[in-house]
Amino acid sequence: MSEVETLTIRRPDDWHLHVRDGEILQGVLAYTARQFGRAIIMPNLSPPITSAADALAYRARIIGALPAGADFTPLMTCYLTDTSDPDEIARGFESGAFVAAKLYPAHATTGSAHGVTDVANIRGVLERMAAIGMPLLVHGEVTDSHVDIFDREAVFIEQTLAPLLRDLPTLKTVFEHITTTQAVDFVTSSGPNVGATITPQHLHINRNAMLVGGMQPHNFCLPVAKREKHRLALRKAATSGSEKFFLGTDSAPHARDAKESACGCAGIFNAPFALESYAAVFEEEGALDQLEGFASLHGPRFYGLPVSEQTVTLRRDGADVPDVIDANGTPIVPFHAGERLAWRLAD
Ligand code: NCD
Ligand code: ZN
Repeated sequence: MSEVETLTIRRPDDWHLHVRDGEILQGVLAYTARQFGRAIIMPNLSPPITSAADALAYRARIIGALPAGADFTPLMTCYLTDTSDPDEIARGFESGAFVAAKLYPAHATTGSAHGVTDVANIRGVLERMAAIGMPLLVHGEVTDSHVDIFDREAVFIEQTLAPLLRDLPTLKTVFEHITTTQAVDFVTSSGPNVGATITPQHLHINRNAMLVGGMQPHNFCLPVAKREKHRLALRKAATSGSEKFFLGTDSAPHARDAKESACGCAGIFNAPFALESYAAVFEEEGALDQLEGFASLHGPRFYGLPVSEQTVTLRRDGADVPDVIDANGTPIVPFHAGERLAWRLAD
């Protein structure tokens, strides 16, 4: 048998993940736990996770849904609302119930109906977070109906994020799932307290993948994929070696029929082949040597957590992505459905 090329890196973490709850949680979690040592768990359940008690109960349900023998740590987050209380948020952080708080502008995306209607309303919370070093995770899109959906991230930087960081320059901030050159430039030119996650889909696809040859609901997520020049900027940032950019899949499972519908919901389920998907990008960019930094080192450094002492190995013998995945009774179409990816995570 000929030798198969392999790549061994420290075990990665996923710094932005939706695992849902109940039966779907049970059906999707193992895909993440197999690859990643830790994941930042998004709080946009219905109702959202807004208190330390909610987060502890959700964490227990996640741990209860892990396959036997899995070694995986969920890192919980708190969903900010207009009425979030600075003392409660700080207590949740200091007790270890949350590692961060998530800002969803109200109605920006799936599960954001209870989000913040104006950042002025959470000014006290943000000041406290800056004072105690608690990270703010930001869904960076404006929701003003007059702003074109393809411009919503860039306008958010101008209208909300830049002014916020001017006022609170030490606030530890993760600009989540960035999709534009403007976001890359903003993060690059900000201080070391500002980082960003990048998803596999925004490295692989541009907006044509949603709209050419018929509507492609399984390529629809928020923020939506943008023009090709933005995808190229994201690839450059992810593979640059800059510690500001790190892995966050934004894997967002939805039942197939909820996506293939007259009002298909936003979210791409990329968890099953996430590391393979990133590896494909890094190989195409001639930057496989940068994969470990992006996937396994930059995130822990940003969050002030230890890097993993474990490793994972990718083999260059191919992974076939199924057309559909049965998530404990719910059919979900994964990212790269029906494709073959060059690298495969070894068992
Ligand atoms: C996410 C979801 O489905 O929860 N959807 C998405 O398109 N990314 C929410 C989010 O992160 O915006
Ligand atoms: Zn998300």
